[in-house]
Amino acid sequence: MGKIVVFGSYVTDLTGWAGHLPVPGETVIGSSFKMGPGGKGSNQAVAAHRAGADMKIITKVGDDVFGREAIDFYMKEGMDTDMVFIDKEKETGSALIMVDEITGQNSILVTSGACGNITDSDIEKARPYIEQAEILLLQFEINLDALYKIIDIAHAAGVRVVLNPAPAMEIDESILCKVDVVTPNEVEAAILTGIKEVVDMESATRAARVFFQKGVGAVVITMGKAGVFVMQGEEARFVKSRSVKAVDTTGAGDAFNGGFVTALSEEKDIFAAVEFGNVVGALSVTKKGTAPSMPRREEIDRML
Ligand code: RIB
Ligand code: NA
Repeated sequence: MGKIVVFGSYVTDLTGWAGHLPVPGETVIGSSFKMGPGGKGSNQAVAAHRAGADMKIITKVGDDVFGREAIDFYMKEGMDTDMVFIDKEKETGSALIMVDEITGQNSILVTSGACGNITDSDIEKARPYIEQAEILLLQFEINLDALYKIIDIAHAAGVRVVLNPAPAMEIDESILCKVDVVTPNEVEAAILTGIKEVVDMESATRAARVFFQKGVGAVVITMGKAGVFVMQGEEARFVKSRSVKAVDTTGAGDAFNGGFVTALSEEKDIFAAVEFGNVVGALSVTKKGTAPSMPRREEIDRML
């Protein structure tokens, strides 16, 4: 079954590294290319799995080469694949990622494909897993109509819902009152709360209060190198990030979220869970790629 259930995207990451990112109309010769498993949902699931969580992934791929690679990858990882749905028409999602190897910054174009086509029948098949979960972790890379239904099911069953609202987009805000913990980055937090710049303790606190007004239980805002802002009730804290030599920051937020829910499932409090997530995030940026760069428990424990 799975204490933690991640219902989210799998997409194939097609990543090119270059000295600088191309501007519109420009062609840049890159230095290397890698294809591998990605997608925010799947990355977060892999991070949790490698961190030692009892985790179940629910996702959807196409009936194609990329989809078969996904299933292969999960089997090698020792992850169950019985809730990896296969869409007969839509292709496996893909992400075209360009990384600036000097600054580590990236640009990403994601096409959801199959994971943008989660149907009612998929949700019904997944229902038993959702309802028995302790924690359900979600993102915005599946079709929103499905996301809302999944949140409704989880909320009705008393499951703790953790929402990583990424990538940033307009949503039906009425769902936020069914969310126990929201984990945006600073940009997503600004968009969802209308607080123009979420950059420090003061602005993050204001953003958190807006989330509280919308009914969210607790707020965790990841702010890159600066660290993570956490607010639960009246207690607000800033948890510093771990400093590492960044090789590729793509998927660092996913690593954080996977680690964070793993620690929550081990009964750690929200501040300790953020600490744990920070370590998972930091370790992931020391390696190229997204899912394949997620650290294993031994490495995490060594850095904690
Ligand atoms: O968060 C990083 C992920 O976002 C990448 O793996 C890519 O697939 C995009 O969906
Ligand atoms: Na990485």
